[in-house]
Amino acid sequence: MSTLNEEILKRRTFAIISHPDAGKTTLTEKLLLFGGAIHVAGAVKSNKIKKTATSDWMEIEKQRGISVATSVMGFNYGDYKINILDTPGHQDFAEDTYRTLTAVDSVIIVIDAAKGVEMQTRKLMEVCRMRNTPVIVFINKMDREGKDPFDLLDEVEAELKISVRPLSWPINIGQRFKGVYNIYEENLNLYTPSKQIVTESVEFRDINNPELEKYIGEMDAEKLRSDLELIEGVYPDFNVSEYLQGRMAPVFFGSALNNFGVKELLDCFVKIAPTPQPIQAVEREVNPEEEAFSGFVFKIHANMDPNHRSCIAFVKICSGKFERNANYKHVRQGKMMRFSSPTAFMAQKKSTVDEAYPGDIVGLPDTGNFKIGDTLTSGENLHFKGLPSFSPEMFKYIENTDPMKTKQLNKGVEQLMDEGVAQLFVNQFNGRKLIGTVGQLQFEVIQYRLLHEYGAQCKWEPVSLYKACWVESDDYEALDAFKKRKYQFMAKDKEGRDVFLADSNYVLQMAQSDFPKIKFHFTSEF
Ligand code: G4P
Repeated sequence: MSTLNEEILKRRTFAIISHPDAGKTTLTEKLLLFGGAIHVAGAVKSNKIKKTATSDWMEIEKQRGISVATSVMGFNYGDYKINILDTPGHQDFAEDTYRTLTAVDSVIIVIDAAKGVEMQTRKLMEVCRMRNTPVIVFINKMDREGKDPFDLLDEVEAELKISVRPLSWPINIGQRFKGVYNIYEENLNLYTPSKQIVTESVEFRDINNPELEKYIGEMDAEKLRSDLELIEGVYPDFNVSEYLQGRMAPVFFGSALNNFGVKELLDCFVKIAPTPQPIQAVEREVNPEEEAFSGFVFKIHANMDPNHRSCIAFVKICSGKFERNANYKHVRQGKMMRFSSPTAFMAQKKSTVDEAYPGDIVGLPDTGNFKIGDTLTSGENLHFKGLPSFSPEMFKYIENTDPMKTKQLNKGVEQLMDEGVAQLFVNQFNGRKLIGTVGQLQFEVIQYRLLHEYGAQCKWEPVSLYKACWVESDDYEALDAFKKRKYQFMAKDKEGRDVFLADSNYVLQMAQSDFPKIKFHFTSEF
């Protein structure tokens, strides 16, 4: 086997997603501990924006500094090279998270056993479903009182719209939590509250073995046996290919804080999680094994130092081998580029890297050459798909408040939009610039960064809109008629596509029923 193939087979690139506070940071940290990438608990700083800080952008910026360091965390585990892509916890950065999900091959969802499936988990799962991303569910905080595990499974199935299959099963919960039976490995893991890596595990192929009572007592042994019987009767057998197609989620139980159930999760993960997968480009599907290097930018991180308006463009390698100082084509700009200091991310360290393989992420220092979605390649021109913008839900007109700085403002707005901070629409009726975001924070981010990085000042003018959606039709006349009728509410996005600005859900629904020949899209990729 060639080195390229060997390297590909070693790689597992995934993201952990959860509703804030479910335990994503804690789980990440424990995974890194197993990889030997860090040695003490508490070393991974949460990338979440603390709730108290929502009105204080300076504080957010400080915290965002942390998130650069933790954007990608690579570590070795046995023969595997694992890349965890971190996603911002704050919902106002959801768009960032959506894009990160385009760069992973699978996902681990963390659910708080007491809270069950929460709002953000549901939203993120929708994105996974769009792409058929394989997911593993980790039900966390079993050391605390929580919901009944069967109820949790029902909830996951109903709310996340995926069939589930428990691969481990808890023995009690909260104060009485005794451990889990690992159905996948057929052993019993006994729980001792501890933050270190110690789990007593006893092989138990036959759950009817009377030895079980010795470990967990008569009542719990009986309950475990009947639960397992029920599981076998109710849930389909675990099927790796169903999992890989995103149709079945294996479920594990544990306590990330106590490092319990994490190793079992990791061991199963490396075995079943997909290696770097083929990626769809507009032109064709691109296989990781192809010799020519190709990759795309899925995230741009601005430098926090206002004196250097440089960024890091995060490139996901899709095929071939990436090499430092090699010449690659920037497809959109049609020019050749060389990178003398690409960065790789191992644990929380950044270091210059000489080569990287499919599934890896490299950080390229950039001074404004890259936009989200840009392709780099050593072969033919390719345009990767799957980096959609989502219909924003908050809108404001942006107004220049310093006429001497119009140029700076325009440039700043353009670059921030290229970075994917928000979306710009130009209202075709009044020519005004409208910024659409998924959360209030983005407006603060934009205003702050325009001032500090571009020296431009702006203010926001409220506008009441419900949604912006992309419209198209095979019937030119129908589209034209629609645009004429809705002329006050038509806008163009940055690519010049038609966007309808609906001011209420009712208006949108009416438009959909009055204009059956028009297709309304809620993501920019269709
Ligand atoms: P997030 O990244 O998903 O937002 O969650 P994070 O890991 O920061 O965890 C949120 C809180 O839940 C933390 O407590 C963390 O210690 C706790 N936690 C995580 N896993 C478990 C678990 O298995 N059992 C229990 N009992 N708690 C768990 P915090 O008090 O908010 O933060 P901290 O001050 O401890 O950092």
